[in-house]
Amino acid sequence: MDKKFRRVPKVKLLVAGDSLYDHAARADRQRALVRSARHLDLRRAAGRKGRRVVRVRRGACTSGRPVRISATEAASRTSHASPTRPTTAMTDSQIQADRAYATAWRIFFDSRRYDHRGTLDLMEPHLRKIVASGRRDLSILSVGPGPGDVDADVARLLRRVAPQGGSVRYVALEPNAIHREHFTAMTRRPELAGVQFDVRATRVEDLKTHERFDCVFYMHSIYHMPGQEERLTREALGMLNEGGILVITVDHEHGQMYTLIKKYVELTGYQGYWTASEAGLITGESLKGIMERLGLKYETAEHDETIDVTLCFDDQSTTGKALLDFIYQTDFSAMSDDVKRQLLVYLNEEAVERDGRKLIHEPSITVLVPRP
Ligand SMILES: C[S@@+](CC[C@H](N)C(=O)[O-])C[C@H]1O[C@@H](n2cnc3c(N)ncnc32)[C@H](O)[C@@H]1O
Repeated sequence: MDKKFRRVPKVKLLVAGDSLYDHAARADRQRALVRSARHLDLRRAAGRKGRRVVRVRRGACTSGRPVRISATEAASRTSHASPTRPTTAMTDSQIQADRAYATAWRIFFDSRRYDHRGTLDLMEPHLRKIVASGRRDLSILSVGPGPGDVDADVARLLRRVAPQGGSVRYVALEPNAIHREHFTAMTRRPELAGVQFDVRATRVEDLKTHERFDCVFYMHSIYHMPGQEERLTREALGMLNEGGILVITVDHEHGQMYTLIKKYVELTGYQGYWTASEAGLITGESLKGIMERLGLKYETAEHDETIDVTLCFDDQSTTGKALLDFIYQTDFSAMSDDVKRQLLVYLNEEAVERDGRKLIHEPSITVLVPRP
């Protein structure tokens, strides 16, 4: 490691909780996101307790008082709450953490040139085959749909493919309360009228169901279940109807975010990132490895995507700061100036200039597994 950086305080890589990659430092991650929220001028959201360590256990509230939630959220919890998870009042700290993540995710999503067309094209012939086999009703389980930008197109595809007079059932598992609100708002789009949405707060790991689906769909959400990918793959396949498909999209191993995160780990000497989960980082390559270990046939589609990082170099930009946090999966405000500077140097080295914008290359890959 460069001498210059030896004396910097040990920087925690905040990769837990509702981040791209979960592990044991969940509370730290939540706290960092609350800090990010403050930077993003979400002071009202962060509130007085912004600095408190937030502990969130699965399905339980461990601290704080229950908060009011919006009518949309209340409706989604009462009418769609999972029978497998009791409806509990959320703490204000939980809401803050969810809001902070949702804000960071929105910035990241809007900065990324997302290309999910290839995923839809991969799915469509399988769905048509199911319909051709005589099925009138189609169903999907979407795990971690976030605010629903991509799922709106998936729902539209199912509607288009479903036969006249047939139905479409769309079950969404989304533990983030803010994302559930946005997803629920998306379901009201007129073009999706007739799709039966069922939005649940359940984490996929907690799902106990005898329901069957034509598709189980993970779009950039399996990072949140490190070490459980193989088990979840087997479970998903067990939930499929005849002819059904499991569809998982993750970042490609050649994505520059992985390179940047690795450089960050090398720079700070922080190893928790790699040791906290035996599984390490899930990439397209490791996902395909799982399918091969399980002896499954699969198809793939690669998507050429970029992230516009121009604002990261504007030190006045709160959006740029939030994007940096998301790209490195860390909290820039907690770093020494030396480390910050060096991370910007790395980003600049990786970025290419196009039309006056700085872009990094972040391709993704979809792996589709037909029910064996
Ligand atoms: C990176 S976002 C992806 C959102 C969306 N699928 C997309 O690609 O635009 C990951 C989502 O997974 C959700 N998530 C995290 N842990 C989860 C779990 N255990 N079960 C289901 N969803 C989870 C998060 O709340 C978040 O909305």
